[in-house]
Amino acid sequence: MIVVAGARGMLGRDLLELFGDRAQGTLRDDMDITSRASVSMALKRLRPHVVINAVAYTDVDGCETNRVQAFRVNADGVRNLAEVTAELGAKLVQVSSDYVFDGNGDVPWREDDAVHPLSVYGCSKLAGEENARLNPDHLIVRTQWLYGIHGRNFVETMLRVGRERDEVAVVSDQVGSPSWTVDLCLAIDALLGKNCCGTYHAANSGSCSWHGFAEAVFRESGMNTRVRPITTGELGRAAPRPLFSVLDCSKLERDTGYRPEGWRDALKKYLRKRSSHGEG
Ligand SMILES: NC(=O)c1ccc[n+]([C@@H]2O[C@H](COP(=O)([O-])OP(=O)(O)OC[C@H]3O[C@@H](n4cnc5c(N)ncnc54)[C@H](OP(=O)(O)O)[C@@H]3O)[C@@H](O)[C@H]2O)c1
Repeated sequence: MIVVAGARGMLGRDLLELFGDRAQGTLRDDMDITSRASVSMALKRLRPHVVINAVAYTDVDGCETNRVQAFRVNADGVRNLAEVTAELGAKLVQVSSDYVFDGNGDVPWREDDAVHPLSVYGCSKLAGEENARLNPDHLIVRTQWLYGIHGRNFVETMLRVGRERDEVAVVSDQVGSPSWTVDLCLAIDALLGKNCCGTYHAANSGSCSWHGFAEAVFRESGMNTRVRPITTGELGRAAPRPLFSVLDCSKLERDTGYRPEGWRDALKKYLRKRSSHGEG
């Protein structure tokens, strides 16, 4: 059985939908990953062969002022999961982030490229990766620019502000690969299917800036909202972001045969799915 920790999160809910009867979700009340006792009690009861950690403190700007909490969840919590899963002989799948890279470059990042996080969030996710390796049977899956039907995300923000205004300002100097949670779930399933271990990158293919992504959201939704390009500096967020964070996912394709589809096709599918869910 697969345990999905973070069953109420954006990724966690899609993982549970994909795995169906094969998986069981845990909420913070069932398993608070920051408590070793809670992790030990929950996993000893459930006896999974795989634990997928979809729990994180994901407020990137909030992490800058809540460093202790960021490390408690994103690093110490992963250590608890790694040690208990190792004890039980279970695999740990740790979901990580492109923010472990500094984004200085123009070539997609490979799994073995040097890491150099710029933000507290990135540092805490990197510490989480190091802790995940305490279980020799670990799988670290770095992803980026996630959106999904069950969470607050960039696509939903654009659709909301696009209904309220004629023009929105969006940063054009950060480049990445917008990634649909459903395609990430399929990548994780493919990696588990081949019993892969170690570190992998998984994101939809192709890349764009946030500005280009916003334009695509409006175009594919039939909205006429204009998108004004601005710089990261002009936006003035608390946490520094990597400017070029495209992930090279060729290792995923080589080892599993699964190639995530292009980001624009994934966006179209997402928009169709959300309208069939009755979202406006
Ligand atoms: N979103 C992105 O763009 C992005 C990009 C790259 C990587 N990632 C990674 O992808 C993974 C999933 O992200 P997401 O966007 O799906 O996250 P999310 O929607 O913010 O969900 C995170 C979940 O973690 C739970 N949680 C927080 N602290 C907990 C604790 N101490 N014990 C148990 N549960 C706790 C939260 O529970 P409550 O509901 O109770 O608060 C929430 O359901 C994370 O590892 C994230 O770092 C995300």
